[in-house]
Amino acid sequence: MNNPESISEPVPPLTRRAFVKAGMTVAGAAYAAALGYPLYRYLATPAERAALLAAVKEVALDGADKLPRHAALMFKFAGRPAILLHHDDDTWTALSAVCTHLGCTVQFDPEHNAIRCACHGGIYDARTGANVSGPPPKPLMAFKVQALTGKVVISRA
Ligand code: FES
Repeated sequence: MNNPESISEPVPPLTRRAFVKAGMTVAGAAYAAALGYPLYRYLATPAERAALLAAVKEVALDGADKLPRHAALMFKFAGRPAILLHHDDDTWTALSAVCTHLGCTVQFDPEHNAIRCACHGGIYDARTGANVSGPPPKPLMAFKVQALTGKVVISRA
């Protein structure tokens, strides 16, 4: 009545060496994941952003038509910062608010009627987005603006 299949083989005891090896394997995998995921996100992000930016054609800002003259409003276009400016002569400008130097967010400087980047002192023209001073190598991207009753519609130029 001795069934050879019912007899289990004794489990070898876990040696200290095997335990350390298993621990090192788990720690190595966790370390690789901790390094690899941010790298993956860093490499994938520009492609994802470009796809998102291309998918959004226009943004409607409800109530933005009430923006006073000589003032600016920050908003997001396809998830990226942008700036809407209402000029003294009742014209409008909408620009990307991402500095073309290293990507900081720019701000309207009403005292000098300019757009400034605080990171390295870049200055842009508030009407055109042209880079006029500092390290930015090119102008801010401009959008088309339609000021309507009750809203301002911003679309790709
Ligand atoms: S990031 Fe704007 S001037 Fe450098």
